[in-house]
Amino acid sequence: MEVTDFDAERLISPQPMWEDADAEMTLRPKSLQEYIGQEKVKQNLEIYLEAARMRGEPLDHILLYGPPGLGKTTLAGIIAREMGVQIRTTSGPAIEKPGDLAALLTNLEAGDVLFIDEIHRLSRQVEEVLYPALEDFALDIMIGKGPSAQSIRIDLPKFTLIGATTRAGQMTSPLRDRFGVLLKLELYSPDELSTIIRRSADILNVACTAEGAKALAVCSRGTPRVANRLLKRVRDFAQVKAEGIVDEKTAARALKRMEIDSNGLDELDRSLLRAVIELYGGGPVGLETLAAALGEEAVTLEDVCEPYLMQMGFLTRTPRGRCVTQAAYRHLGLKPPPQNTQAGQQTLFD
Ligand code: ADE
Repeated sequence: MEVTDFDAERLISPQPMWEDADAEMTLRPKSLQEYIGQEKVKQNLEIYLEAARMRGEPLDHILLYGPPGLGKTTLAGIIAREMGVQIRTTSGPAIEKPGDLAALLTNLEAGDVLFIDEIHRLSRQVEEVLYPALEDFALDIMIGKGPSAQSIRIDLPKFTLIGATTRAGQMTSPLRDRFGVLLKLELYSPDELSTIIRRSADILNVACTAEGAKALAVCSRGTPRVANRLLKRVRDFAQVKAEGIVDEKTAARALKRMEIDSNGLDELDRSLLRAVIELYGGGPVGLETLAAALGEEAVTLEDVCEPYLMQMGFLTRTPRGRCVTQAAYRHLGLKPPPQNTQAGQQTLFD
């Protein structure tokens, strides 16, 4: 049999892709009880799940929103499991035509969860098909063209749509309004991330001290996906250089090698702050301008860098653009300008 380039690449890859995917799957909590953090979301969900189970009905449609890597897909899986139903997973860009969505919907069984990741990226035509499906559990299909065209209605099983998005603001309001439950996921605290890291270390069979977990947690930008990725990389350092134990010293050395600083900022975060300071006098500067200067996609900066830089108090968003704070100057070892003369904060009389 001929081996394609793609297969060959996977076969000789030092870090097979399927191994990474497996690790991610095994680390995912499978019940709400195992799920660490997001206490408000969990408390509300527990009530909705209980009530739906008591009524013997599917859950209302749920929208999960928040920055990437916080566990939206994991939570959707947990919801389906807690309801004892199947989950079908897809994403906004994968549903290209109304027919793709119709095929997905007509294959659902009563009570099933349909999970659409990046739901803000659905096309308008696909969205139009989704509205009656969400509201009336029905599909309206046009048969024929012109004056003789006819619309027929197909009933669908009652299902629950779980939509996930990093940008609820980009969704159309008719779509957003059709979700009965809106759940906002927040960045995790260092303590919650420490607990997640220790749980993951147990599953991966890595010895990790409380101090080691803490050192990784404070550098994980509030995100379990980053925490788990750091743990896996530090495990490699620990294995080769420190008898396999992830302690404070090994964690610190590994983080330094990965160019992650004491506040969890990576090279891209620092370049962003430096660019605002060096090219735009501290701001304000528009997102697109900044993205062009850095050679990055605006969405990467907006979704990945900015939520964390704002949480750390290094960056602010103003109607006129992005500004760095005095703390950002200090973090980069630079002298902050006097407060009132920083660009963007000029007084009327400057
Ligand atoms: N792994 C990733 N996210 C998690 C979470 N919220 N709780 C437990 N383990 C996780």
